Amino acid sequence: MIDIHCHVLNEIDDGARDLETAIRMCHMAEINGIKHIVATPHTNTVDNIGHFIEIRDERLEILRKQIAQRGIDVKLYPGAEVFVDDDIFFANDLKRLTINSSRYILIEFNFRNVKIRKIYDYLNEIIDAGLIPIIAHPERYEFFQFDYDAVNALAKNGVIFQINASSLASLDGLQEFELAYSMAYNGLASFIGTDAHSLTHRANNLSEMMRYFPPDISHYNMQMMVHDAAKAVLTDSAIPLAKRSEIHKRGSF
Ligand SMILES: [Fe+2]
Repeated sequence: MIDIHCHVLNEIDDGARDLETAIRMCHMAEINGIKHIVATPHTNTVDNIGHFIEIRDERLEILRKQIAQRGIDVKLYPGAEVFVDDDIFFANDLKRLTINSSRYILIEFNFRNVKIRKIYDYLNEIIDAGLIPIIAHPERYEFFQFDYDAVNALAKNGVIFQINASSLASLDGLQEFELAYSMAYNGLASFIGTDAHSLTHRANNLSEMMRYFPPDISHYNMQMMVHDAAKAVLTDSAIPLAKRSEIHKRGSF
């Protein structure tokens, strides 16, 4: 499996707190069937990208050496989880924040006070820069939890989503689970990431968590979400799309 969203690098954001934790997270990945991890530290500023990349690549190299020495069979790739707000309109080097130098960029928004209209503006800005945005954990935003039609509309416009394994395993709350499940079941989620920050906080024990996923998600969708779509990202090719249907909030029509 491929984990496209993981805060495995140490001392760069609120992820792994030290090198030892980072190594143990790689080990946890390995025993949980994750062969490839995209390291996606938060980047909250788009105006000092060079500095961020310098530190990220340094940490990445050290961790690669450490896990190789210990025989941990996991490959690490560079990425970022880019916080998107109005500053995005002034960013001039977004391409450097993509996953493994592909055209795909993992993005997140403020958890409050973002209008759907704004999200369209942000997405257009990123697309105009020649990139393909992947929205991280849509199920965690209230503005999506209570507006499934907004998710439908974005999906119809070709937006790509990554849901968290912990949401689908019901570890993060009912609203999160219901939206993640609807998206996974109906083909609107392209990736399942762990979004792991440590060995305990939203950990990357993926195969363990998968036992708690609803069993009726199709094999095709599961395969796409834990492997095929992420493989396409890593090789900078077009991601496979599942058969998509609209989602509806439980109790609504
Ligand atoms: Fe994250």
